[in-house]
Amino acid sequence: MQTINGFSKLSKVEKIEWLSSQLEGEAKDLVNRLNEFWHQDETVQARLDEFSENTLSNFDLPFGIAPNFCINDKIFSIPMVIEESSVVAAASLGAKYWLERGGFKARVISTVKVGQVHFKWQGSKDKLHSFFNAQKENLLNSLNHLTQNMEKRGGGIVGLELVDMTDKIENYWQLKLSAQTCDAMGANFINSILEEMAQVFRSMVANSHEFDQFEKEVQIIMCILSNYTPDCIVECSVSCPIDDLGVVNGVPAREFPEKFATAVEIARVDPNRAATHNKGIMNGIDAVILATGNDFRAVEACAHAYAARDGQYRSLTTASLADDTFTFSIKIPLAVGTVGGLTSLHPLAKTSLAILGNPSAEELMMITAAVGLAQNFGAVKSLVTTGIQQGHMKLHLLNIMGQLGATSEQVEEGKKYFADKVVSYTAVRNFLNL
Ligand code: MEV
Repeated sequence: MQTINGFSKLSKVEKIEWLSSQLEGEAKDLVNRLNEFWHQDETVQARLDEFSENTLSNFDLPFGIAPNFCINDKIFSIPMVIEESSVVAAASLGAKYWLERGGFKARVISTVKVGQVHFKWQGSKDKLHSFFNAQKENLLNSLNHLTQNMEKRGGGIVGLELVDMTDKIENYWQLKLSAQTCDAMGANFINSILEEMAQVFRSMVANSHEFDQFEKEVQIIMCILSNYTPDCIVECSVSCPIDDLGVVNGVPAREFPEKFATAVEIARVDPNRAATHNKGIMNGIDAVILATGNDFRAVEACAHAYAARDGQYRSLTTASLADDTFTFSIKIPLAVGTVGGLTSLHPLAKTSLAILGNPSAEELMMITAAVGLAQNFGAVKSLVTTGIQQGHMKLHLLNIMGQLGATSEQVEEGKKYFADKVVSYTAVRNFLNL
């Protein structure tokens, strides 16, 4: 592969031609066929291209629905974008199971997001604190032009603190901003405010008579929102009398919840298990986040930071068996938006939100948390009863059949044949006589 200058200036066709010229054999053929994945509607394709840079084609993922979610007594069919077999099936089964047992109860605890101006400053700490306290109002007023729209919608800045970080890094301070961003994820809102505030603060200090000459310099290191949003958090739970759990995959109602609660407790105490446990939760959460055009990297980063908030990485869910009642809950920070960004630009994100009844950001937090909980319920339920391979393999069989070009009759026969056998690529090939 050669290097190239000005790749971004080439048209899409030229980009593909250049890449193809660098390749041989199968890779060249595959690159030459990237246009087969272009959207048939040119306007939609142009929009998709704008979401990123150096775009050559689209990378398709399945868009599915998990129906029968009852959340706070309202029924939802929830769009999920995910490539892993059995995730949507598990969410749907979990939804149906809890539909018959009172559904999911969810509540948003708070929706405050955070951003920081990181800066270095040297001088009398007391002077800086009293200067900040005296000038805080002026500093906030200087941002009115950036906040007034958000304020009209019910949000805006809800807090500003000067944080002394000098015990961690020499001369290191922060301006820590808290904001409510209503139905927007709010990254642009917060970052714009931070950058403006940093400049205003710097010149306020430079022009103040309260500081000695050497104290007048604020060195701005960076201004950026924090993706750790422990105060933008939602809680969701399911609960029923233990006897109502019924026989679960052959395991009696009394034994199942005990094994289940022990499995969740293991994920609380053991980070090895916790990472896999939480991965299962994020299977569901990411799928909703993607389907609704939200930022799954931000949600992932925050969820894992929160899972390690007391210094050890732990499960995001908890299970209890008090008073003959089984309760299973999740508490998770979710900074999501239902307006702005991709949510209204991506045609399928718009469709997802429409299917959900165009929820507010708070409603989307509750919906997403319910899917994460259902997903975790499904995974742990399988793990403590049949094991997960049984369910995975049923769906895996379909994938292998598809890859090997099986006809629909062969798929039906295959399902019956493999009902009591171990699925493997070789076994399916043999079954198809290939
Ligand atoms: C697989 O994608 C997710 C699980 O491993 C989650 C878990 O172990 O809890 C099944």
